Amino acid sequence: MADYTLKVEDFNLFYGDFHALKGLNLSIKRNTVTALIGPSGCGKSTLLRSFNRMNDLIPGVRTEGAILFDGEDITKDTVNLVRLRQKIGMVFQRPNPFPLSIRDNITFGPCVMGEKKSDILEGIVEDSLKRVGLWEALKDDLNKNALALSDEQQQRLCIARLLAVKPEIVLMDEPCSALDPIATLRIEELMLELKRRYTVVVVTHNMQQAARVSDETGLMYLGELIEFDNTEKIFTSPSQKITEDYVTGKFG
Ligand SMILES: Nc1ncnc2c1ncn2[C@@H]1O[C@H](COP(=O)(O)OP(=O)(O)OP(=O)(O)O)[C@@H](O)[C@H]1O
Ligand SMILES: [Mg+2]
Repeated sequence: MADYTLKVEDFNLFYGDFHALKGLNLSIKRNTVTALIGPSGCGKSTLLRSFNRMNDLIPGVRTEGAILFDGEDITKDTVNLVRLRQKIGMVFQRPNPFPLSIRDNITFGPCVMGEKKSDILEGIVEDSLKRVGLWEALKDDLNKNALALSDEQQQRLCIARLLAVKPEIVLMDEPCSALDPIATLRIEELMLELKRRYTVVVVTHNMQQAARVSDETGLMYLGELIEFDNTEKIFTSPSQKITEDYVTGKFG
């Protein structure tokens, strides 16, 4: 298998006349955490959404170039979007569990995919909750409404819901921005745990978070990818002046 799971080639995205992503080239390595940083409005979320075609939901969006996922160009019209979004799932800023029981949140995806056997579904519930560190706390409360959980537990549950459909890549768009500092550190630990089995791409405004959790970091600015490199290099000896100014807090 190639080292890279996603390869972005000369990728451009337009919202109508607005050129939001400009000539991007980058590769995401398997079983790593990649951080995307940069000031507000620079295109981080737009790029993340391009990885599972969530921008398709926005009228007037057009792209040029390619994004290869395991070698297949996922920008093509012929791509099976249901399968793509199963393989590449997304977690958002605010946890968004369904207003259902904890169990039903996890079994939702597998049921949609046709799994009917209750013993298999129960196994998926246990396995998914274990992977996000919720099993011990919740195993006796699986019928409880997910909305009754704390923000951190809701975010973990959303990650578990995504793992239940066996993704390869987990996209996270500022997943800790609604959490307190302690919960944030615990979700960061979870990201490090997840990369053993999955590939994680995380957008963050929190530079310390990018430095703590990621293997590689990309700095975006006004729709361009200014620099993409090993995280330590980005934070200690970046090649570009813009990167240095951003990571040292001179702007943004
Ligand atoms: N649905 C949309 N229609 C038109 N323009 C959009 C749309 N979504 C985003 N944009 C524009 O595209 C650019 C990139 O936005 P994006 O949300 O990707 O930035 P971001 O880096 O995630 O910002 P933030 O850090 O504030 O979340 C911005 O100029 C934004 O105004
Ligand atoms: Mg954003």
